[in-house]
Amino acid sequence: MRTSRMPGFYRLSPSERLKAVAEFAGLSDEEVEVIRSCALSIEDANRMIENVIGILPLPLGVATNFLINGRDYLIPMAIEEPSVVAAASNAARMARECGGFKAWATDPLMIGQIQVVKLESTEQARQIVLEHRDEIINRVNEVHPRLVKRGGGAKDVRARVVNTSHGDMLVVEVLIDCRDAMGANIVNTAMESLAPFIERITGGRVILRILSNLATERLAGAKVVLTEEALGGREVLEGIVLAYALAEADPYRCATHNKGIMNGIVAVALATGNDTRALEAGAHAYAARDGRYRPLTHWELTSEGKLVGTIELPLAVGIVGGATRVNPVARVSLKILGVETARELSQIMAAVGLAQNLAALRALVTEGIQRGHMSLHAKNIAATAGARGELIDIIAEIMVSEKNIGVERAKELLAKLTGKQAP
Ligand code: MEV
Repeated sequence: MRTSRMPGFYRLSPSERLKAVAEFAGLSDEEVEVIRSCALSIEDANRMIENVIGILPLPLGVATNFLINGRDYLIPMAIEEPSVVAAASNAARMARECGGFKAWATDPLMIGQIQVVKLESTEQARQIVLEHRDEIINRVNEVHPRLVKRGGGAKDVRARVVNTSHGDMLVVEVLIDCRDAMGANIVNTAMESLAPFIERITGGRVILRILSNLATERLAGAKVVLTEEALGGREVLEGIVLAYALAEADPYRCATHNKGIMNGIVAVALATGNDTRALEAGAHAYAARDGRYRPLTHWELTSEGKLVGTIELPLAVGIVGGATRVNPVARVSLKILGVETARELSQIMAAVGLAQNLAALRALVTEGIQRGHMSLHAKNIAATAGARGELIDIIAEIMVSEKNIGVERAKELLAKLTGKQAP
């Protein structure tokens, strides 16, 4: 049976891990080669952005153990920070013992905005826009007939009067189902082509025509119920609830709490070629939607003594178009995930965010997070001091056990172990 539970995966070499992932996901030899060779070419890169001079590679890891809505997933994560992939895998293992994550997502509706000014009566213009609802929907759908064929397209129109420092303005909002695309291009094209019509019917002047990254109609969430046994004791559960309470009450803690959640979400977004800035903007604006900055997760104890965690946030991600199409590594990452729709990808990302938060809180209320960070940090230091191969692991282990991690100590140990002076 296909399982993401892979004990000892972390002890394998990168190529052994890739082999295991390839077997799990049914990757072809070419797809394995794409991952092995970081296959984004300079020509591809040169078509993605301007003034290209090179490519900046990032480590691509795989989080194991995820069970989401009863299905096993291996999760590709691109990130420079140590411990994030291990933490996600760890939390997913604990969650798995308790039935895994239950995840959900709304339809993939994005909001396009058109700002209208210089109106005689903003309220009257608002009414006029709403009276033209069906025509607006039809006009948007004429711009994107293929999207409509796939079940997407404009679904609704809203109009709001917004009071600004320059007086009242009208904001026309079109809700567009973007199906499997993130939707920025779909929405922005639609808003630009709709703008002259809005000017005609309102008699006003259009300024902005752009999507909103506060994608409140494109939410995803996840839930996990954990037992005392799975988490390592009653004190851990209580600690997590108290840590959560501080994040709820204090924006300084809350920013770090939410940053930890985004560690996981952004890493999956990068691995799958999604727009990480759009996700960050949406997540943090959503966290502050009622005027106070709040945690994106919620933790509480049930009367039976179980810990229940939930997460909810806007997750505007795609599996077609943009970098997901151009970057070959992103395409293979999507194959490893085996997702069929953008909605499914957003559910996975919600579960990863919740797992990341669980792992961070658990570490913080027990041994702290530094120990987890230290082993990789020590390996980097050993390599910087000139160690190669298994000497890196040996020197790192000694430095961690001595609680003395530094280039000078690494050089001393290298000299001692090899009988040669380090460079
Ligand atoms: C570090 O990248 C993330 C954490 O600080 C998150 C948290 O404090 O909840 C560990």
